[in-house]
Amino acid sequence: MQGPRSIPGWEKGIYAIRTDPAAIDFEAACGFLRSAPWAAGLSHEAMKRALRNSLCFSLFEKERQIGLARVISDFATYAYLCDVYIEESRRHRGLGTWLIRCVLDHPDISCLKRIALITHDAHDFYRPFGFQFASPNHYMERLSSSAARSTEPPLQTAISFPQKSSCHPEAKPKDPRLS
Ligand SMILES: CC(C)(COP(=O)(O)OP(=O)(O)OC[C@H]1O[C@@H](n2cnc3c(N)ncnc32)[C@H](O)[C@@H]1OP(=O)(O)O)[C@@H](O)C(=O)NCCC(=O)NCCS
Repeated sequence: MQGPRSIPGWEKGIYAIRTDPAAIDFEAACGFLRSAPWAAGLSHEAMKRALRNSLCFSLFEKERQIGLARVISDFATYAYLCDVYIEESRRHRGLGTWLIRCVLDHPDISCLKRIALITHDAHDFYRPFGFQFASPNHYMERLSSSAARSTEPPLQTAISFPQKSSCHPEAKPKDPRLS
């Protein structure tokens, strides 16, 4: 089994984004994710397991973790972007945009054909990166009632289609959603 091939990082003044799993501050990350509505009810242990089994983009202000983006992927065909979070006091400074830009620039992500995410209300945040609504006639999901923690209605999924894929140069379907 092969995971991501590289562990790049980015720096901007006092801020840094690290993808090294050893860099994750589990206490900080689980702390702020716990305040996110989608993580309500998820145990600390489950959250840590999710972080450990994902490609995490940890955003630091000096040595303090203030943000996160988590990617679940096979690193060949598909990635699911989730747990995108910037600490409340640090929002509206362009850090969220920088974080997503770094996710999409990561060499093991930038070559993927399909990147999906689910959002309740941040569609306008994701649109500039190329995310658009997936066709409701194609996307399916199975929610386990025993694992359900939310009574909220089904969400719409957004999918990003890169202009070109260096991993799959031969794969250029007429309608990328149909492949
Ligand atoms: C969404 C989030 C990551 C954005 O982080 P950020 O650092 O504030 O983002 P930026 O400063 O780069 O924002 C750039 C622009 O995106 C848009 N934007 C930011 N957050 C938005 C949101 N929640 N909904 C819609 N548009 C948003 C705004 O136009 C913003 O410009 P502005 O600051 O001039 O208003 C942050 O608000 C957050 O952590 N929210 C709580 C968790 C969450 O909702 N995550 C997304 C779940 S899918």
